[in-house]
Amino acid sequence: MSSIIPLLTEVEKAGIAERQALPERYLGLPDAEMDARITAARGKLGNRLVILGHHYQRDEVIKFADYTGDSFRLARQIANRPEAAYIVFCGVHFMAESADVLCAPHQQVILPDLAAGCSMADMAEPDQLESCWEALNQMGVAPRRSSGQAGVVPVTYINSAASIKAFVGERGGTVCTSSNAAATLKWAFERGEKVLFLPDQHLGRNTAYKLGIPLDEMVVWDPNEIVGGVDPDQLKRAKMILWKGHCSVHTRFTVQQIEAIRRQHPGVRVIVHPEVPWDVVQAADDSGSTEHIIKTVTNSPQGSVWAVGTEVHLVNRLATDLAPDRTVVSLDRFGCLCSTMFRVSPNHLLWILEELVEGRVHNRITVSDDQKHWTRVALDRMLSIR
Ligand code: 13P
Ligand code: SF4
Repeated sequence: MSSIIPLLTEVEKAGIAERQALPERYLGLPDAEMDARITAARGKLGNRLVILGHHYQRDEVIKFADYTGDSFRLARQIANRPEAAYIVFCGVHFMAESADVLCAPHQQVILPDLAAGCSMADMAEPDQLESCWEALNQMGVAPRRSSGQAGVVPVTYINSAASIKAFVGERGGTVCTSSNAAATLKWAFERGEKVLFLPDQHLGRNTAYKLGIPLDEMVVWDPNEIVGGVDPDQLKRAKMILWKGHCSVHTRFTVQQIEAIRRQHPGVRVIVHPEVPWDVVQAADDSGSTEHIIKTVTNSPQGSVWAVGTEVHLVNRLATDLAPDRTVVSLDRFGCLCSTMFRVSPNHLLWILEELVEGRVHNRITVSDDQKHWTRVALDRMLSIR
C-alpha cells in the first residue's frame, strides 16, 4: 500500500468554493443499497449529469462512469457533453480543475471527495516555479534568442495545479499527458533550445530518452535548493531541465521486481507506466500511459502473461474484466494503490448525486478567472498535440 498523505495544498484549497465532509448518514450503507440509490439518482438527473472516471478508480465507482479513460481521453470528453449541467469527476483534483477550465460557463465540475489530491501535483508550487524561471533568466538560459527561438520552453504534466498550467501557458509552453508526452517534447523542441519539464522528472526523463536525448543532457532542478542545486555549466549543456518531482505510487516499482517476475514466469511481458524510474523502463518490455497499457494487453494474443507496473485497480481490472484469457499480475506483488484516487468512494458519489437531485451542489471545483485564460491556452495546446 502506498503512503500518500491525502492533503490539499493552499493552491488547491483556493480553488474550492465549498468544502463539506460526507454526512454521517452516508456511512456504513450496504453495497446493494448504494448501487440502487446511485442508479436512481442518475436516472433522475438524466442528461443533466455526466460522470467521468479515471482508470485508477475503484470498481464500485467506475462502473457508474459514462466515460472512462486516462487523463488525456477524459480531458477530451469534456467538450462532448455540453448539455450536462454537472460534470462529476471521479478522479483527482487536478483533473477536475482542468475540466472546469475546458467546460462551458453553464457547467459545474464536482469532485466527490475534496481530499482526492495528487502528491506529485503538490511538488510544484507557483512561487517555486517563478523563482526557477527567474533564475533561468538570470543565468541567461531562458531568454529568447535573436533567432526567435525560445531559450527554454516550459512543459507541465497535466498532474499539476491550474496556477502552474497558467504560468506555463503564458510563457509559450504547454501541458502534456503521458499519452502525448513524446509529441509534446517534439513540439517544444521546434520552438526552443531547452525544455523545462515539471513536475514529474521520471516522465520527462523517460520520454526524452526515448526520443534520443542522452541522460548527460538532462539536469534535475530541485526547487528546494538554491538555484535548483544545478551546476551552471551542466545547465548550459542540458536539453532537458527536469523538475525534482515524482509519483509516490509509480516509484515503488523496481528492477528487482522485474528480475523476480521474469524468474517466476518465464516468457512474461512487462509493461510499465512512464512515471516509473528510468532503470525500470529500461528493464521492462514496454511503457506507456494507462490507455496504452490497456490497448497493448487487451490486443495481445490469448494466453499471454503480463506483469503490469501501474496502479493496482487498473491491474486488477485488466486481470478480471478487460483482458480475459491472459494472465495479468501486478509487478509489485502487493499491488501499488493510489490512496488519493481511492478517496472517491461510492458513498461520496451517492451523496453528491442525491444532493444534486435536490438542487444542492457540493464540492464544486473552480479555477479563478485570473488563471483561466492562460490555463485554457495551455490545455488547448495540449489537446491539439498528438
Ligand atoms: P494517465 O491517466 O495519463 O495514464 O496518468 C496516470 C496517472 O498517474 C494519473 O494521475
Ligand atoms: Fe498522483 Fe501518482 Fe496518484 Fe496519479 S497515481 S494521482 S500521479 S499520486
